Amino acid sequence: MNLGIIGLGSMGQNHVRVAKDVAGSVAVFDTDKARIDAMVAKYGAKPYYDYGAMLRDKEIDAVVIVTPTNTHMKIASEAIDAGKHVLCEKPVADDVGEAQKVVDKAKAQGITFAVGHIERHNPAVGYAKKNLDSGQFGDVISLSSRRVSSLPGRIRDVGCILDIGIHDIDTMNYLAGKPESVYCAAGTKTKGISVEDHANLLINYKNGITASIEVSWLTPMKVRKLWLTCDKAYVEMDYMDQTLTISTSSLPSYDPGNLFNIPLEVNAQRIALRKQEPLKNEVVDFIEAIKNRRRPLVTGDDAILNVRVAKAAIESYKKGKEVMVE
Ligand SMILES: NC(=O)c1ccc[n+]([C@@H]2O[C@H](COP(=O)([O-])OP(=O)(O)OC[C@H]3O[C@@H](n4cnc5c(N)ncnc54)[C@H](O)[C@@H]3O)[C@@H](O)[C@H]2O)c1
Repeated sequence: MNLGIIGLGSMGQNHVRVAKDVAGSVAVFDTDKARIDAMVAKYGAKPYYDYGAMLRDKEIDAVVIVTPTNTHMKIASEAIDAGKHVLCEKPVADDVGEAQKVVDKAKAQGITFAVGHIERHNPAVGYAKKNLDSGQFGDVISLSSRRVSSLPGRIRDVGCILDIGIHDIDTMNYLAGKPESVYCAAGTKTKGISVEDHANLLINYKNGITASIEVSWLTPMKVRKLWLTCDKAYVEMDYMDQTLTISTSSLPSYDPGNLFNIPLEVNAQRIALRKQEPLKNEVVDFIEAIKNRRRPLVTGDDAILNVRVAKAAIESYKKGKEVMVE
């Protein structure tokens, strides 16, 4: 499978590195010529200085769009018209209506359209999903997550909800089901930016599950964790370590007059999975989806729902009230 990577900034360079290992060949394009030349020198990628020429090249089967969010849909639409399968970075778009047209066009033309919600490809998320589906953890009651770190230097066109919170929104939707409404409180502390840099979201799911998400660009340390309260187990997951701690407990009869000595027995099992690079899994899933004409793990419709939740959260904090997810 021959891939063309469009956009060679921080994330695009990671896509080129990974694609070199898993794709047949890798072509590259960026509006910044120096970035193209750097990828040619470092990875021997095939350069395109004209983006239209890359799309017209019959040898290229698929493109990976790693440009700023507000450019995703124009490039995706042109790539689909050129018959290329598309892996688009998250968030799929800022405008849900525009994204839906492009995703529908891909479906109508038999084009594989995947979105880079990378955490779905984290083996820890896969492990949690498998154990939830098999009933091992029991029913989910609530989920909560923390994704906090310091603000990276790159220019941003979206705030922390659409940029990083969307990872957790995707995981929550994957594990919990259909979101119904969102309440969010957020703000901006960093000077010189107009978007939110910290937020707390509370999502209500149609099935009664609740999820809370804390995201921020304001902490010195980096945390990426998820907790699941289920009726058979309590699970703490670390996205970075790819570990899960699964706790169960039993409570024999006790003396209510002696609450200091409650004989609670907690059994905690720590699972350290064999580490895998989620980005590599994502690109392999995309290639396999094209080859086997199956759905990718994260579809365009999944990604649009994630944007709907993120936008409902932004509307919620601006209006100071709960917002329904349409
Ligand atoms: N999945 C993840 O974990 C993850 C992490 C970081 C970024 N991202 C996503 O990847 C995308 C890019 O983010 P980034 O951090 O690499 O940004 P960046 O600013 O570092 O790089 C963007 C690159 O796109 C190029 N570019 C801009 N407009 C272009 C166009 N029309 N055609 C071709 N190239 C163009 C720029 O010259 C630049 O090199 C964003 O959608 C972002 O949300 C995803």
